[in-house]
Amino acid sequence: MSDPQDLRGRHLVLGLSGGIACYKSAELVRELQRHGATVQVVMTEAAAQFITPVTMQALSNRPVYLSQWDAREPNAMAHINLTREADAVLVAPASADFIAKLAAGRADDLLSLLCLARPRERCPLLLAPAMNREMWAHPATQRNVAQVVADGALILGPAAGDQACGEIGDGRMLEALEICEELVAFFQPKLLSGRRVLITAGPTFEAIDPVRGITNLSSGKMGFAVARAAREAGAEVTLVAGPVALATPRQVTRIDVKTAQQMHDAVLPLAPRHDVFVATAAVADWRPAACGEQKIKKDGSGAVPTIPMTENPDILAAVAKLADPPYCVGFAAESHDLAKHAREKRQRKGVPLIVGNIGPATFGRDDNALLLVDDAGERELPRADKLTLARALVAEIAQRLGAR
Ligand code: C5P
Repeated sequence: MSDPQDLRGRHLVLGLSGGIACYKSAELVRELQRHGATVQVVMTEAAAQFITPVTMQALSNRPVYLSQWDAREPNAMAHINLTREADAVLVAPASADFIAKLAAGRADDLLSLLCLARPRERCPLLLAPAMNREMWAHPATQRNVAQVVADGALILGPAAGDQACGEIGDGRMLEALEICEELVAFFQPKLLSGRRVLITAGPTFEAIDPVRGITNLSSGKMGFAVARAAREAGAEVTLVAGPVALATPRQVTRIDVKTAQQMHDAVLPLAPRHDVFVATAAVADWRPAACGEQKIKKDGSGAVPTIPMTENPDILAAVAKLADPPYCVGFAAESHDLAKHAREKRQRKGVPLIVGNIGPATFGRDDNALLLVDDAGERELPRADKLTLARALVAEIAQRLGAR
């Protein structure tokens, strides 16, 4: 997906406490900058055992702060100055010891001192823990984490997996890309807070025989972008995905399906528990009436097989017909006369909002242009990358939900 500069204008204090995950923080600086943020690095003495301040200075293009006694600050108050300009303090890695310090309100080094001295209402604190699994699971650590959360900090991760010590379990720091995605999400307006959103995405695959099938060129990118945007907006998101190789957006529950019937069977029981249903999937209209158990073979006679077809259920129309349906948003992929077809589709499916796009100008691409059609008329969302469009669509949906 292209790279919207969604941290542009944000200034971040990136704190490193001691842990082998410090090596990931070098990449993290790069990633944050790629998204448009400026980054001021502050390191504890222990962090400097794992990665040098020179590396972090070169990457961040700013002198690194290590001590509260830093003589470079004219007023000798680095702990105050550093957070007054910052939009957030992100500590990655946050060690068990550092979290314990925060929980106790201690301030005997620059990083813990500035966390304590930051203006809490406008400079939030995000922590990406990194430690051995036993340390993470220890009741003392869990107690400290609960305390810092109660004090307003946000915890990112940790992830489970291989650890530097050779053990496997919870406690790995999130990857730089994941931390960056969390930070971007954190700054998005919470337009769908408390809402549940169900989304279908991608193509379906309808088997003809064990090795062949009918599918289409939908990449799933638009639906995955809508899932990410809805989660960023504070919604609880379930994504029912056809066969695509895309990474699941963070904090989104994903259900993988193959066929239209499976997608239908996954969606229908879930739909009544959701506030919004967005059908971005390009669902096959028909499927072979039967899937042979053996591959259909050429017999050399030149005869072509006849494949009887049957109609697939219309998932969107079925959800819209529920007794108390979620707010339903359909997509219309057309090749021409977009507005006319979208209006007709809206009537036919019985849904309040249809989002039209030109099929060949969206399938597989990272950008798109949308035409929103509802009972108030039409509204264009001009060509942009799919995540930007998905965020705009989420804002449009939130507005209509609020007006209901
Ligand atoms: O009828 P058509 O396929 O053009 O309608 C497109 C819209 O309906 C999309 O939102 C698509 O996800 C949804 N749809 C569906 N189940 C089908 C066919 C389409 O949910 N079987």
